[in-house]
Amino acid sequence: MSEFARRVARWQQRAGRNDLPWQGTRDPYAIWVSEIMLQQTQVATVVPFYARFMARFPGIAMLAAAPLEDVMRQWSGLGYYSRARNLHSAAQLIVTQHGGVFPRSRAEIERLPGVGRSTAAAIAGFAFGARAAILDGNVKRLLARHFLVEGFPGERAVERELWSLAESLLPKRGVATYIQGLMDLGATICTTRRPACPSCPLRTTCGARVANRVEELPASRPRRKVPTRATVMAVLRHGGDVLLEKRPASGVWGGLWSLPELATDVDLADIVARRFGCDVRRTDRLAPMRHAFSHFTLEIQPMLIDVDAPPPQAAEPGSLWLPLETASTAALPAPVKRLLTRLADSALGDQASLLQEAIQDL
Ligand code: ADE
Repeated sequence: MSEFARRVARWQQRAGRNDLPWQGTRDPYAIWVSEIMLQQTQVATVVPFYARFMARFPGIAMLAAAPLEDVMRQWSGLGYYSRARNLHSAAQLIVTQHGGVFPRSRAEIERLPGVGRSTAAAIAGFAFGARAAILDGNVKRLLARHFLVEGFPGERAVERELWSLAESLLPKRGVATYIQGLMDLGATICTTRRPACPSCPLRTTCGARVANRVEELPASRPRRKVPTRATVMAVLRHGGDVLLEKRPASGVWGGLWSLPELATDVDLADIVARRFGCDVRRTDRLAPMRHAFSHFTLEIQPMLIDVDAPPPQAAEPGSLWLPLETASTAALPAPVKRLLTRLADSALGDQASLLQEAIQDL
């Protein structure tokens, strides 16, 4: 056995978790249910749900025969509800295709809906003593740190490297203790934030610890480069009132009230005259703003535009001419709300202080 595996297994027996409700059994059904619940949920949350679930559905046949709504009700509060749907349909599949007997091999277990390679290995290991490597998120982090695996673990090449490490470290015997030890270490010691390195049985061999890189490994998801789009937002102002427009129902900020947008800030007077039918008395360039959407970044150039008279179009549906204070409290997109609130706050639109803010923002 490698020194790595020996330390993990010894630590598990000495300091790991050994009295959880799904431990001390080799019933594959009980272990399967626990592993599915533990996929995206912490142990402390799972414990009471697990007890209720097992009391209501003590075996595969009862789960398979239950209406899906009953299963969903038992799952209610645990989140990630596809887990419950998969559990239910997997139970039915075990009844119809495996005669109600839980499959024994990792490969067969992996074919059940909702069961990936790592979960299948854990079930096969805990229930049948199978020798199969696990690699959940916690174990990825632990291995990446200990063996200085560079790159984001969600990337295929990095994940492949981690799997091959996980396979190569697997001891010949005592696999259940070892994989439980990996899980426990990953969940309680080698945590994402503020890992408890001084208590770690691997502290002397951990590459990240030795290189003082624990906080930076594993690498986080690379920031996708998102395109930017530019827009000019017009704060059309007459007296203390500003013009809001209702956005189309589809697209970003669908159906929200917002400021009119212009494609450009050159020849503003012409554009405003043509589009809103009113004369521009004065324009001020305000502080540019950025707003991040998941798929692009919006660069907003707000322009304060004082007009001579309320635009006649303001009477049209989809247009609203409101006092600035009222407008700023409407259900607006975040950056628009920020802009109008700032305007309302700055001495009721006092030009000097606004320009000052604009300069500071730049
Ligand atoms: N997370 C996933 N499986 C687990 C297990 N068997 N014990 C503790 N935490 C886990």
